[in-house]
Amino acid sequence: MTGFPPPMGLIAELTHRCPLSCPYCSNPMELERAAAELDTEGWLSVLDQAAEIGILQVHFTGGEPLVRRDLVTLLARATGLGLYSNIITSGVTLDDRMMAALIGAGVDHIQLSFQDVDPSENDHLGASPGAFAKKQAAAARIRASGLPLTLNFVVHRGNASRIPQMIAMAEELQADRTEIAHVQYYGWGLVNRAALLPSRIQLEAATVEVEAARARLQGRMVIDYVVPDYHAARPKACMGGWARRFINISPSGRAMPCHAAETLPGFSFPSVRDTSLNEIWNQSDAFLRFRGTGWMPEPCRSCERQEVDWGGCRCQAFALLGDMNATDPACELSPHHAVMQAAVSESESAQTPFKFRRMTKQDAAQPELAGS
Ligand code: SF4
Ligand code: FES
Repeated sequence: MTGFPPPMGLIAELTHRCPLSCPYCSNPMELERAAAELDTEGWLSVLDQAAEIGILQVHFTGGEPLVRRDLVTLLARATGLGLYSNIITSGVTLDDRMMAALIGAGVDHIQLSFQDVDPSENDHLGASPGAFAKKQAAAARIRASGLPLTLNFVVHRGNASRIPQMIAMAEELQADRTEIAHVQYYGWGLVNRAALLPSRIQLEAATVEVEAARARLQGRMVIDYVVPDYHAARPKACMGGWARRFINISPSGRAMPCHAAETLPGFSFPSVRDTSLNEIWNQSDAFLRFRGTGWMPEPCRSCERQEVDWGGCRCQAFALLGDMNATDPACELSPHHAVMQAAVSESESAQTPFKFRRMTKQDAAQPELAGS
């Protein structure tokens, strides 16, 4: 293969179907229907090409990847090709049979998400009664299988004060790694931002709790911490930089540099149905447009951090400023940084109800899958 160094990871969004309805889901507002999903052969070809161009990891995600009847087939191909495999799941359908099948197919890692440490809040956020108990059972299964256990807690205004209890639960479940991840404001999260965004005081208190737990648990459990951009002085390197480390494939096979890129106007995202991964990565406008630093306006153009954060997030610049070419407003050096503070102020006074993620029953109907 020639061209730009290959991506490190393939993010395989197998489906937008999911038994939960979280109001901060990063999936797009227009969920892709089950009938539009890439079939088994299509995904197998993507995995073959991923290994061929030098990709090292595949992250099976969604929606809920376990609802795909061919997940085990896809997983077995990935591991057979030597790809490191990670499954990102809500865990509510991870029963004994599925656990054994995943182990049999060689899964390397499972990341299990919780909406809250409080069972009723957890079930309310996912709009799924009984989900908390199923997740705890899934955690026990993963632990018993001998795989490393990674828990993910999604944090927002309503549960940030429960971080100590989240970490205590992770200790009880003997997690090797826990991710305390504040909601990122894309997709459904952006729609519900006013109901979710924590205040600066809440964020600072949460950070103190995480730091204390990290010190206490050093050598026993790793704690990753993801903060929201809205209280930051500099943006995050979104996706490690546009088209630098990841290639994201939507359920229908559209290839994008990030999960939210389809919100950007004027792009034509190539499909793996008719374009090779090599061509997508090395030649498509969608991947070349914001790769590197050549596209940057001031102040990024003359900034010493331009190869640290790669100018932040294009989707956030578009969502908040209507201009995907602008400096990410999360950056204090952006002339538009005030929009972040305005959003924080708006959310502090807001009493908005959640808009839960929904897919109609008809859109979610299981398609017939080759090889399933
Ligand atoms: Fe990053 Fe641009 Fe801000 Fe510099 S000016 S810190 S490159 S977003
Ligand atoms: Fe698209 Fe950040 S989510 S560039």
